[in-house]
Amino acid sequence: MSESQREKNEMLTLHKILFTICSISLLYKYYTTTVPTLVRIKDVKFSVLGPYNTTKIVVEDNYDQLIDIKNFAFKVNPQPCESYPTGLLLMVIVSSNPNNLENRKIIRNTWGRNLDSTKVVFLLGESENVTVYNQVKDESMKYGDIVQGNFIDVYRNMTYKHVMGLKWVSHHCPTAKYILKTDDDVVVNSHELRRFLARELSPWGARDLISCQVLEHAKAQRTEKSKWRVTTEEYPLKYYPTYCAGWAILYSQDVVPRLLKTAQSTPYFWIDDVHITGVCAQKIGVARTTFTSLILTPNKVNLLTMLGPDYAGPFIFGPPDLSSERIKEIWKAIPE
Ligand SMILES: *[C@@H]1O[C@H](CO)[C@@H](O)[C@H](O)[C@H]1NC(C)=O
Ligand SMILES: *[C@@H]1O[C@H](CO)[C@@H](O)[C@H](O)[C@H]1NC(C)=O
Ligand SMILES: *[C@@H]1O[C@H](CO)[C@@H](O)[C@H](O)[C@H]1NC(C)=O
Repeated sequence: MSESQREKNEMLTLHKILFTICSISLLYKYYTTTVPTLVRIKDVKFSVLGPYNTTKIVVEDNYDQLIDIKNFAFKVNPQPCESYPTGLLLMVIVSSNPNNLENRKIIRNTWGRNLDSTKVVFLLGESENVTVYNQVKDESMKYGDIVQGNFIDVYRNMTYKHVMGLKWVSHHCPTAKYILKTDDDVVVNSHELRRFLARELSPWGARDLISCQVLEHAKAQRTEKSKWRVTTEEYPLKYYPTYCAGWAILYSQDVVPRLLKTAQSTPYFWIDDVHITGVCAQKIGVARTTFTSLILTPNKVNLLTMLGPDYAGPFIFGPPDLSSERIKEIWKAIPE
């Protein structure tokens, strides 16, 4: 073989390799962009319901008790579900701090705007600051979307807040087919979420659904400076059970009263997502289904806000811990 012929052969091989790489990446892109969303929920552990599956919600619960608070009462208790006797597709319960008036305002004006068959309420405790206490009172009279319990709103009380949400849904909105628990610094692509629930899951609801960003083999934090530090008295084991990151948890209707019942009789642990979607979910035997593929990654946030929705791909949940500005930016970039 001459020198030039060998060069030619090498070039040919190189071209073949490049061609193969291109084909694979094109195929990959084709696959990932045309497969429907449900298929992207890997390892489905729940069942979807049809028109013949009647769901009967049984609530066995002491209304005046919240875990170990014996004189629990709702200070404010709106009833947005009463106008949907046959059921609402989605009830969103947003864990919010009384101080975060601005976050609530943004959610009301963006993704939480009253959409057909979707309602949003904010879960609050009581502020110890009189000014804030009165602001919340005015706000709840104006918007009617605040569910407030008679416990002090502090970080260590966030499990009370989550369980209060389960209690409120069980007693006052039992016909909602799906319940999304989220935080006030999160953006939800609510158009896409409703399409996803009604078309890719089922408009009749589901059973045994707890879907979220699933966390496995997480260690209980013992270091002094961690925000999430827990003592061995609070939590004796080294690892947490598999649980859901608390910023976006999708429950099916049947799961909520079951989790409530269990949480009511399980000793209090202050990290609510570990407690409710880890310890209690394990007790009722409901597996957690991951929806990681439905989350917009921080990189994709940039693609979305700079180049537009086609570049970010479909998503339902934005990343957590967003600033108000970021929530507005992302919402603006989402098509209806
Ligand atoms: C829904 O109803 C169908 C028909 O009666 C039944 O075969 C199916 O098992 C039910 N699904 C659930 C989750 O109960
Ligand atoms: C109470 O809240 C108001 C409004 O946010 C704030 O200006 C004030 O400093 C707070 N008071 C105390 C004692 O923290
Ligand atoms: C949580 O709320 C209860 C009831 O209001 C209160 O007694 C308790 O002190 C609060 N917890 C903390 C850590 O402040």
